Amino acid sequence: MTVLVTGSRGRVGSALISLLHDRGLDVRAASAAPGSLSLPGGVPAVRCDLHDPATFPDALDDIDAVFLYAEPSHAGAFAQQAGAAGGRHIVLLSSSSVLGPGARESAIAAPHIAVEQALAASPVETTVLRPGAFAANALQWAGALRHSGTIDLPHPGSYSDPIHEQDIAEAAYAVLTEPALRGEAYHLTGPQSLTFTEQIAALESAAGRILPSRHVTREAWKESVSPYLAAAPADALLRYWAASDGVPTTVTGHVERLTGHPARTFATWATENASAFTG
Ligand SMILES: NC(=O)c1ccc[n+]([C@@H]2O[C@H](COP(=O)([O-])OP(=O)(O)OC[C@H]3O[C@@H](n4cnc5c(N)ncnc54)[C@H](OP(=O)(O)O)[C@@H]3O)[C@@H](O)[C@H]2O)c1
Repeated sequence: MTVLVTGSRGRVGSALISLLHDRGLDVRAASAAPGSLSLPGGVPAVRCDLHDPATFPDALDDIDAVFLYAEPSHAGAFAQQAGAAGGRHIVLLSSSSVLGPGARESAIAAPHIAVEQALAASPVETTVLRPGAFAANALQWAGALRHSGTIDLPHPGSYSDPIHEQDIAEAAYAVLTEPALRGEAYHLTGPQSLTFTEQIAALESAAGRILPSRHVTREAWKESVSPYLAAAPADALLRYWAASDGVPTTVTGHVERLTGHPARTFATWATENASAFTG
């Protein structure tokens, strides 16, 4: 079986490539920038930009399965071409944001819904992974600490269930390699619902130092991220954080069901990535 992994520069895509390769499967690494990939020996790279359908035919040539990032612009054409090239299964990296109230109006959820619908209408069997917030999002706090010395939080009491990117990759490996798991949608979460304040405490414990943070207004936060985050996704995040402020999220057992082990804790991720926070 040959698996095409899109988004190979991404954290989930690169972890999945290593898993597939280590376990002896034939894997092809696709990326918008294949020249910048650092791949395990023998894994071929191919250019595949999900915004550019002209790059699809070479990437999809003679593949059996695809791990796909959720880019809506040409998702239907991608799935059609995957089927025509012999592909029998697409595993989509979607988002649990599609499950929330008002998802269709959310700038974060709506593109993921569009891709899920495009794949559902295609002839290729699709399995949907819907993770919540990645634990690796905390690396944005490391950047903020380097830049301004503090972490600005408009909703410090907002809950999420951070998931380790390795658990998402292992879940993807499971559905790619076990036919009985195909065709479902899985809501992937970490094992605990934690406030941002609790997540920072876990990072402090791992890094062995205080990580300064402060409660800022929603307006001040939006202004501070405006150089790199557009207004619509910033508003969607603010709405999501407001809705989960003081409201624990529901964790699922789907990581354990797919991988056979409990989801890794945020404290584990913090320990593995402590060097980013040691200052
Ligand atoms: N961060 C979260 O909390 C979260 C939560 C739920 C779902 N997600 C999903 O996970 C994706 C990646 O999350 P991340 O922020 O952590 O990125 P990341 O792992 O840093 O991955 C970035 C790379 O993944 C590929 N990629 C990411 N999004 C893509 C898209 N929409 N279309 C095509 N390629 C894409 C690109 O790879 P190449 O340049 O190699 O092609 C990009 O360089 C998001 O786009 C989202 O759909 C994220």
